[in-house]
Amino acid sequence: MIQLPAKHSATGNTIFSVMSAMAQQYNAINLSQGFPDFNIDEQLSQFLAKATTDGYNQYAPMPGLPLLRQAIAADLHRRYNIGVDADAEITVTPGATYGIYTALSAVLQPGDEVIIFEPAYDSYIPNIEMNGAKAIPIALTVPDYGVDWNKVKEAITPATKAIVVNTPNNPTGAIWSKEDWDTLAELVRDTDLVIVSDEVYEQLVFDGAKHYSVLEHAELRARSFALYSFGKSYNNTGWKMGYAVAPAEYTVAFRRLHQFLVFTVNTPAQYALAWHIASGSAMQVRPLMEQKRNYFLELMKQTPFTIHQPAKGSYFQLASYERISDLPDMEFAQWLTQEHGVATIPVSAFYHNKKDDKIVRFCFAKKEETLQLAVERLTKLSAR
Ligand SMILES: Cc1ncc(COP(=O)(O)O)c(C=O)c1O
Repeated sequence: MIQLPAKHSATGNTIFSVMSAMAQQYNAINLSQGFPDFNIDEQLSQFLAKATTDGYNQYAPMPGLPLLRQAIAADLHRRYNIGVDADAEITVTPGATYGIYTALSAVLQPGDEVIIFEPAYDSYIPNIEMNGAKAIPIALTVPDYGVDWNKVKEAITPATKAIVVNTPNNPTGAIWSKEDWDTLAELVRDTDLVIVSDEVYEQLVFDGAKHYSVLEHAELRARSFALYSFGKSYNNTGWKMGYAVAPAEYTVAFRRLHQFLVFTVNTPAQYALAWHIASGSAMQVRPLMEQKRNYFLELMKQTPFTIHQPAKGSYFQLASYERISDLPDMEFAQWLTQEHGVATIPVSAFYHNKKDDKIVRFCFAKKEETLQLAVERLTKLSAR
């Protein structure tokens, strides 16, 4: 066989595939991968069926349906009170992972450096490396998962071309404050650094907190790509639909790649989402998910897991098993799946150096009965 080049340093399947396969093998309840196990809004299903029967089955325009981009712009205006140009600044993408990759590709040249914060969503480092660039990971502080800004300052070099931000954060559930964005703005003011802001959980913030989007920060917005996922806002992760927002010149650079990577995105899904968003009666995901987080936290009190901090946003709750076991987190997660029938994600998987704080990630975007069944199994565990 001719040897093909390894385009990035991640080997094997992602931890999400591994744990989901293991959950299936051992008939475990799968709280590992981040997706809802309940149905989407009936209206959205009907709109998808209508789009296909109405004949919207051929290629949509390259940047996305104008109808959908206008609906997105109106939605962003309503939620953040910002003006976004639907034609020049929004591109519909096949999910946010693609958006992050394409934004990074538009920015990076071989040898460039990109700062990321760890624990980090697992596509960032491979996406950076696939562009011949180098990820510079900075560990967030444990257990509050805040940013050590001195470390960021020290990490910025003439080779640094971008910083990837993820708020609300997967896996930690932490969110950035206005002050975090202001501090970042100060640090990058005299540089050519671009911000890649992964805001897929923007709608999922709890306890009355506000999600601060990079789009609300006028100074940073001028140097940012913001990436969104319809999957997380409308419970349809399997549709793999999202969008990118960036200043006009950045959007031109993004589309230069987009038109040759995918050219255009699923047409009936674009119509369905456009109608759904414009209807103003889409199911609200925030109260639903906050209720699930609260329900899960209440149930977890019956188990020997330690919750250091309730998730402020996202689909995920971290929990420490310090009172249960000394095992490394990967082994603990495997043991929990095999012996107790509950699949989680070991948080070391989100660190380039597999930093192990004895913490696992639970996804609470599940039906109450799923959560109840899972925690019932976890109550069988005993504290040491
Ligand atoms: C932080 C983060 N970014 C991006 C994504 C991917 O979004 P999409 O499915 O739209 O590609 C996920 C999905 O889990 C995520 O957690």
